[in-house]
Amino acid sequence: LNFQPTKFITSAADIRQLPDDSGVEIAFAGRSNAGKSSALNTITRQKALARTSKTPGRTQLINVFEVLPGKRLIDLPGYGYAKVPIAIKEKWQQALSEYLQKRRSLKGLVLLMDIRHPYRDVDQELLHWATESEIPVLVLLTKADKLKPGARKSTLLQAREAAMVFGGDITIEMFSSLNRLGLPAVEAKLSDWLNQ
Ligand code: GTP
Ligand code: MG
Repeated sequence: LNFQPTKFITSAADIRQLPDDSGVEIAFAGRSNAGKSSALNTITRQKALARTSKTPGRTQLINVFEVLPGKRLIDLPGYGYAKVPIAIKEKWQQALSEYLQKRRSLKGLVLLMDIRHPYRDVDQELLHWATESEIPVLVLLTKADKLKPGARKSTLLQAREAAMVFGGDITIEMFSSLNRLGLPAVEAKLSDWLNQ
């Protein structure tokens, strides 16, 4: 599948504003600042399709992108950012959990975790939820360029080992938007999901 023609469709504050719940959707989830929006830009070869930022909490809405008609990628708001006012945080979390629970076209979850801080609380909750819901997960250990090759490799092996406890269909890869490490594996998995 060619991801380059991907277009921005809409930003939704809650799931009622999303496009028709048909076709296939893949959602990108993870802590604030994990690199979700950057990964979307890397995969689509577009510099600024999804907005990125040094400041956590950049993506505050459910952003919808279309690869082809009926094949969508979703940039979800990040979680776990302490400095967001509690009322706003609750509103995002509400939108996020509603999306995950109700969206029937959701056929795969890409869970991004900074390779230096994998498996934080909410990451684990999401993995449990996905396993129970029978949603396959691609875990990306992002910013892999921040570690030396040896450390990178051992973190990957540990992360794969740790994923066993969740059961479920979980694939774990390293990823870097900076040098495109892991990009072919991501493209293969997304193509597989979107072509079902
Ligand atoms: P929210 O929208 O706040 O949830 O964040 P996000 O997960 O979308 O993160 P975003 O893509 O905006 O990236 C956050 C910061 O990490 C930015 O400063 C990026 O430039 C940086 N970043 C993202 N991916 C990589 C990577 O692979 N390597 C390095 N070194 N930095 C990265
Ligand atoms: Mg973002």
